[in-house]
Amino acid sequence: MRVLSGVQPSGNLHIGNYFGAIRQFVHLQEEHDCYYFLADLHALTTVQDAPRFRELVRDLATGFLALGLDPERSVIYRQSDLPEVTELSWYLSTVASMGLLQRCHSFKEKVAQGVVPSHALFSYPVLMAADILIVRSDLVPVGKDQKQHLEVTRDVAASFHAVYGEEVFTLPKPLILDEVAVVPGVDGRKMSKSYDNTIEIYGPEKATRKKIMGIVTDSTPVEEPKPTEDNALYSLLKLFAPDEGETAWVEKAFTEGGVGYGDMKKKLFEYFLEPFSEARARYEELRADPAEVERLLAAGAARARETAAPLMDEVRRAVGMR
Ligand code: TRP
Repeated sequence: MRVLSGVQPSGNLHIGNYFGAIRQFVHLQEEHDCYYFLADLHALTTVQDAPRFRELVRDLATGFLALGLDPERSVIYRQSDLPEVTELSWYLSTVASMGLLQRCHSFKEKVAQGVVPSHALFSYPVLMAADILIVRSDLVPVGKDQKQHLEVTRDVAASFHAVYGEEVFTLPKPLILDEVAVVPGVDGRKMSKSYDNTIEIYGPEKATRKKIMGIVTDSTPVEEPKPTEDNALYSLLKLFAPDEGETAWVEKAFTEGGVGYGDMKKKLFEYFLEPFSEARARYEELRADPAEVERLLAAGAARARETAAPLMDEVRRAVGMR
């Protein structure tokens, strides 16, 4: 199976990104032919500050590689390095109906959050369809908020086939990522950069410690048992507890009382450092060698082009451009 997914460089990688998506991307590499890309063109719909944008793209590229997305096994590239994507997006937009795009929730939601209602934001699902179709993906691992975009992709591909009478595209299926993996943020809501409640994977240790110490808790006294339901600290401790002994410690601390929230947070900070220590070290190494990151991305784009270029030849022929 060919798997493809993309992540926008619109914020620093946080542990919600890892448990909600990137961990699954890493596992999928073991069995499938995977394509993972940095959706930089998409991110321009929300980040419109060039220095900040450059920094976000560089950090995501580095962060992706450091977490174990492996350029030896997968094709890892930056969307804008594959200009076939934007060309395909135009052809697709000529068969994508306004009604189909007007039904998309994400445009309305983003506008409600204060994002500029640009034409690019509106046509975002068409660019996403191009990302997916350009490498003939079979399976697209995404969060459930992106399910509708997969339906748009299939619809637009089918319209193209109906208009031009040729089956040039592979129709992809979504692989909806497990909601169990939704990680609570420091305020108890879903961890998301739009809520500003994230714990970053590559943040400086001091800042990370501060964020963890700031996790919102109630005022249960130290000696009393603590509620576990809707308790972000509890969920995060359970997620990070490194072994059964520590998991049992967490359970006991909550059900029996005697451990204050402050001590639990210190424990969480210790837990957090362990599983990401390798990624954090690799991140620092790659940060010191941006030329290597660029080289890896360029090699990824060249590999993606092996599929994209012949597909574009077919598309151009189908529409009569050639
Ligand atoms: N829209 C996706 C998101 O915001 C990112 C993305 C862009 C994507 N193109 C894609 C995901 C293609 C999967 C496939 O999360």
